[in-house]
Amino acid sequence: MMITIDGVAASGKSTVASGVARALGVPYVSSGLLYRAAALSGLEAGLPLSDARALLAQLGQVPVRLEAHPEGNRVWIGGVERTADLHASEVDAGVSTVAGHPEIRRWVDSQLQALPAPFVAEGRDMGTNVFPAAPVKFYLTASPRVRALRRAQERPEEASAIEAALIERDRQDSRQIVPAADATVLDTSDLSAQEVIDRILKAVAARG
Ligand code: C5P
Repeated sequence: MMITIDGVAASGKSTVASGVARALGVPYVSSGLLYRAAALSGLEAGLPLSDARALLAQLGQVPVRLEAHPEGNRVWIGGVERTADLHASEVDAGVSTVAGHPEIRRWVDSQLQALPAPFVAEGRDMGTNVFPAAPVKFYLTASPRVRALRRAQERPEEASAIEAALIERDRQDSRQIVPAADATVLDTSDLSAQEVIDRILKAVAARG
């Protein structure tokens, strides 16, 4: 069965989606990586990220490919693996602008809908726009401080700078971030990743 896990930036979505997928033996797909790949491709081509048509042309010329595995996703841009570059701070800063273009959203949606189901889909609008019929939907939140501290464990930057950047990205993303009416909203500030995974697996089991 399709499972959607949406939520704010750095709310633990990828870790949780990967854990749920591994427990169920299905892949998980991080939709944010496709937005990130579109942003990185545009930045490296020197395109203004406000130019949706130029970005779409770039995606037509230099193909992006996402490979889904239960333990992680890998992304190729123009045949070169770029997974490790997708979380650079320039990409963080530009990705919301790219994701604000309806043309780019349609491009991401069609990439996702072409993948063989079922899988765990993770992002912002998986439960609302992309897989509205998914029987299990979760929406994760956490306080900006907790999210910044989690990210700071993965990056050399200061937690306070990460927190400021996260708050700015929340503000820019807020048009896309609306929990599905039938999603379970979970504040993960005081929960471990395993506790969140267990709650989702319980919901899956309850659906039979
Ligand atoms: O999930 P992640 O932080 O990697 O997503 C990067 C960015 O991609 C988000 O900040 C948001 O702008 C965009 N995004 C989106 N819709 C999704 C997934 C990501 O707009 N479903």
